[in-house]
Amino acid sequence: MKALTWQGKRKVSVETVPDPVLQADNDAIIEVTSTAVCGSDLHLYEVLGPFMDPGDIIGHEPMGRVVEAGTGSNLKEGDRVVVPFTISCGSCWMCAKGLYSQCEITQVREYGSGARLFGYSRLYGSVPGAQAQYLRVPHADFGPIKVGDELPDHRYLFLSDVLPTAWQAVQYADVGEGDTLAVFGLGPIGQMAARIGRHLGARVFGIDPVPERRDMAARHGIEVFDYGEDTNDAIRDTTAGRGPDAVVDAVGMEAHGSPVGKLAHQAVGLLPDAIGRKMMEHAGVDRLAALHSSIDLVRRGGTLSLSGVYGGEASPMPLLTLFDKQIQLRMGQANVKKWIDDLLPLVEDAADPLGVDDLITHRLPLDQAPEAYEKFQKKQDGCIKVVLDPTES
Ligand SMILES: NC(=O)c1ccc[n+]([C@@H]2O[C@H](COP(=O)([O-])OP(=O)(O)OC[C@H]3O[C@@H](n4cnc5c(N)ncnc54)[C@H](O)[C@@H]3O)[C@@H](O)[C@H]2O)c1
Ligand SMILES: [Zn+2]
Ligand SMILES: [Zn+2]
Repeated sequence: MKALTWQGKRKVSVETVPDPVLQADNDAIIEVTSTAVCGSDLHLYEVLGPFMDPGDIIGHEPMGRVVEAGTGSNLKEGDRVVVPFTISCGSCWMCAKGLYSQCEITQVREYGSGARLFGYSRLYGSVPGAQAQYLRVPHADFGPIKVGDELPDHRYLFLSDVLPTAWQAVQYADVGEGDTLAVFGLGPIGQMAARIGRHLGARVFGIDPVPERRDMAARHGIEVFDYGEDTNDAIRDTTAGRGPDAVVDAVGMEAHGSPVGKLAHQAVGLLPDAIGRKMMEHAGVDRLAALHSSIDLVRRGGTLSLSGVYGGEASPMPLLTLFDKQIQLRMGQANVKKWIDDLLPLVEDAADPLGVDDLITHRLPLDQAPEAYEKFQKKQDGCIKVVLDPTES
């Protein structure tokens, strides 16, 4: 089959690789019909290189049709499914609490990481990813979400990651009717977090330096702001000087705005792998501009919800400010299946309350993935969300 593989820093290529086969009786193989590129893939492309091996298949936002189902899976050939990016057993102690991204059966203990993820480096189990024609789905007795045949792929596809991640971010932010919410970063995760905030009745501010991302959010009732020195004051001014009740940080470590961080990022990419890994783990190479702005903006006693992924253990956090402002901080990898019952009716609703019809900017054959990665990273050509179609070449 053809698959998108990681080959080195900022280098991915489509290669012919062996088809996946069933390895356990609760596995299934799906033929992938749509598979999205995520902001998280950019971390692999850039800073997580030391944890990747050339030839690793990337991708974790797929849907498709079952072509082979193990006897212990709850699927059959022909089923149409969306596959969550986290691989969970569904029945261990953590899964029983709905903390599926902490599954104790699939945790990657070697690296001290949570549940395995598709296509997400040694840190998350080196599981072959989903930007490919076929995908082996472990724990197919629990993970895959069966969907109907009537609606097009893009209505369901974002149940794999973007929607549950955004939903969890807003649940953790704990906002509802009449509350105020600011969302830093209007990539796909921030777009959906902002729209979900609106859907739940909050007044929502969205901050992003990229004009077309602000335009997209504005189409969905979000009050948008460029990222700049006066932004937080402008937002405070409209919230009686206090700041919003909650802030979602949907930027993560590819943030703009911190030149020091950028240098460190580049340095990690240039180091030999073993040293780069250590630096990534301990030196705090993160670009924390958006996170610091989020801490500054949230009102005293408010909640900060992080969905952007930050790595590096020595990240300098303004603990004094967090303490003094009595900020509640919640974060984590999405517990995808926990939120599907809330989300499925919304994506199937003909009125499209979350606007899933307005998120994809590029749908391309898998062959064009390398160009798509570059476009997405550089934010060229109005690129906000790319979906690859492995059935087309
Ligand atoms: N928690 C989870 O389970 C989970 C799941 C998926 C993605 N993520 C993470 O969420 C983050 C966002 O993902 P995405 O797909 O939307 O990525 P993305 O890269 O498309 O979006 C990031 C956005 O942040 C904006 N930005 C950069 N610096 C900024 C700043 N200083 N202030 C405001 N905005 C700024 C960029 O312009 C961009 O629009 C990534 O870190 C990703 O790894 C987390
Ligand atoms: Zn993703
Ligand atoms: Zn489990």
